[in-house]
Amino acid sequence: MSRDKNYDEAFKESITNPDSFWAKAAEDVRWVKKWEKVLDESGKPFYRWFTGGLLNTCYNALDCHVEQGRADQTAVIYDSPVTGVVRKITYREMLDDVSRFAGALKGLGVSKGDTVVVYMPMIPQALVAVLACARLGAVHSVVFGGFAPNELAIRIDDAKPKVIISASCGIEGAKVISYKPLLDGAVKIAKHKPGNCIIYQRPQMKADLVEGRDHDWEELAKKAEPASCVPVTATDPLYILYTSGTTGRPKGVMRDHGGHVVALKWSMKNIYDVKPGDVYWAASDVGWVVGHSYIIYAPLFMGCTTVLYEGKPVGTPDPGAFWRVIAQHGVNVLFTAPTAFRAIKREDPEATCLKKYDISSLKYLFLAGERLDPDTYYWASKILGRPVIDHWWQTETGWPIAANCLGIEALPVKAGSPTKPVPGYNVMIVDASGKELPRGEEGYVVIKLPLPPGCLPTLWNDDKRYLEYVEEIPGYYITGDGGYFDKDGYLFIMGRIDDVINVAGHRLSTGAMEEIVSKHRDVAECAVLGANDQLKGEVPIGFVVLKAGVTRTHDEIVKELVQMVRDEIGAVACFKQAAVVAALPKTRSGKTLRGTIKKIANGEKFTVPSTIEDPAVLTAIEESARKIGFGKK
Ligand code: COA
Ligand code: AMP
Repeated sequence: MSRDKNYDEAFKESITNPDSFWAKAAEDVRWVKKWEKVLDESGKPFYRWFTGGLLNTCYNALDCHVEQGRADQTAVIYDSPVTGVVRKITYREMLDDVSRFAGALKGLGVSKGDTVVVYMPMIPQALVAVLACARLGAVHSVVFGGFAPNELAIRIDDAKPKVIISASCGIEGAKVISYKPLLDGAVKIAKHKPGNCIIYQRPQMKADLVEGRDHDWEELAKKAEPASCVPVTATDPLYILYTSGTTGRPKGVMRDHGGHVVALKWSMKNIYDVKPGDVYWAASDVGWVVGHSYIIYAPLFMGCTTVLYEGKPVGTPDPGAFWRVIAQHGVNVLFTAPTAFRAIKREDPEATCLKKYDISSLKYLFLAGERLDPDTYYWASKILGRPVIDHWWQTETGWPIAANCLGIEALPVKAGSPTKPVPGYNVMIVDASGKELPRGEEGYVVIKLPLPPGCLPTLWNDDKRYLEYVEEIPGYYITGDGGYFDKDGYLFIMGRIDDVINVAGHRLSTGAMEEIVSKHRDVAECAVLGANDQLKGEVPIGFVVLKAGVTRTHDEIVKELVQMVRDEIGAVACFKQAAVVAALPKTRSGKTLRGTIKKIANGEKFTVPSTIEDPAVLTAIEESARKIGFGKK
């Protein structure tokens, strides 16, 4: 596909003529049979792209490159400072491993349309598992390793997998985390019982296998016949990725095949400005959307080398870890979350570790997952001396909504803004009634339908819940973020307007945490909200009202609450602080004033809401927030 001339033209064409815009992009994809319709609006507000088309996602990630002369190019660099392993895997080797593992899945009865849950650490087998599903037309659902059994069980019950694929352990810095008891615990809790589990035994820790249900990965793969690609329709589901909503029940974001390949490939060229053969590193986790799109799929669709890094930005072994990986593997583009850079800055503010490495291969740093605060932006720009690009997106879209599209036209950067809407996304700012707001005014960030290819066509088995995104303001998709356009048309994302928070770039639901805290026998009611944190952006904190007559110490109760959230959601929730208060501030109609509590916790100015029942409660909240290290200093 020829490169679009400039941003304004590309954007305009994508909105006024989406059919021709995306048909051009789709020419870059290998189809078994071309589509009949580019944009299918017949089921509005459910939109479909490339209906009638047939393709295979795994073919576009692996086979086509092997056929076109990239067989011996490295497809994946597995760099694991926590195990001391660096392994390069060529496209040919990946294809062999994936075909064989797909054969193993087939042997267990997995076929097109079946679901498979993948609960894996950051090892190459996670990529093999995912791509093998895609090869068979099976629907994978990767669950982040940091989630506790209860969260895994919720996903198992919703996805109803035929097979679960896991590993004996994950390695988090210096900790070896045994996965098998977590998996067994989840299967025990879940109502749906998968017939088979496949366990990759890592040398750091072997897991006991359950006879008749569990299979050893290596043994199964050794015996399997390689499986070939199964053509699927463009609109068939490729994966489900559960993400936090405002309640304890996660949303199963569904992604289909055709639009996904088209959009991701387009994004590599036009947003990230990479070409086949480049080394692309998304320092995230395969359990998050960034990992799906930019560790696994997009770099492979593009014929790049993707880096799979099993380590942290600091402590594995030091804050020079990222520079070491860039230098050692000639990384051209790095993509991570601002938190990672804040962690490096905290340990090495002068970036002295950087002096030890030659990072001349690096062209750009892309950041997403949470707001990029100007301090981090300026620091990263200064130490790297290269473009630092903030871009905004979410699990639902699967690829960036707003970015500086470097492959189209590099626009001047404004700190605090992810630049402008990416072609395909008609972003608008509206008020609660759906009225478009003028530039400079803050409101709800919405996207005029249809969403471009690659975004969620619906939620897994839950069309009704999908409609919540698009029916509240008819004709628009509600992103859940608040923000504004400045006078030059630059978008500023100011944060979530619902109960979703971002902790170290990880999306979590305060509503889900409240549900858990409320279950404690001594708790009468509670509010959990995200408070600003210098490292992680936000952390959840709780304010708890106890039942009358409770005599146990507050410390004891808070400790139990912290443990409950850790046990039910997982360590990744980072719920570590809560304060016991006599009452929560409420409106006269009984609604908890969470927004006001949040402002107090962040030490921000607030006006006492006119609807408040008892303003004196706010003073008590201020004092409690201070006691746990928040509020006005
Ligand atoms: N499996 C099991 N446990 C996990 C896990 C996994 N895959 N990922 C995280 N955890 C655990 C951690 O060990 C930690 O446990 P602890 O409370 O017992 O210490 C807890 O979950 C919180 O993890 P995290 O928020 O990552 O904090 P951290 O202190 O371990 O690391 C950073 C802090 C900033 C270094 C880390 O968050 C980071 O690298 N962030 C980069 C951002 C990123 O990758 N975002 C993804 C979206 S782009
Ligand atoms: P997730 O679904 O985990 O990718 O989280 C999506 C949410 O993260 C968005 O709705 C935003 O609230 C936030 N987010 C992601 N990227 C950015 C960014 N560049 N700037 C501001 N917020 C962001």
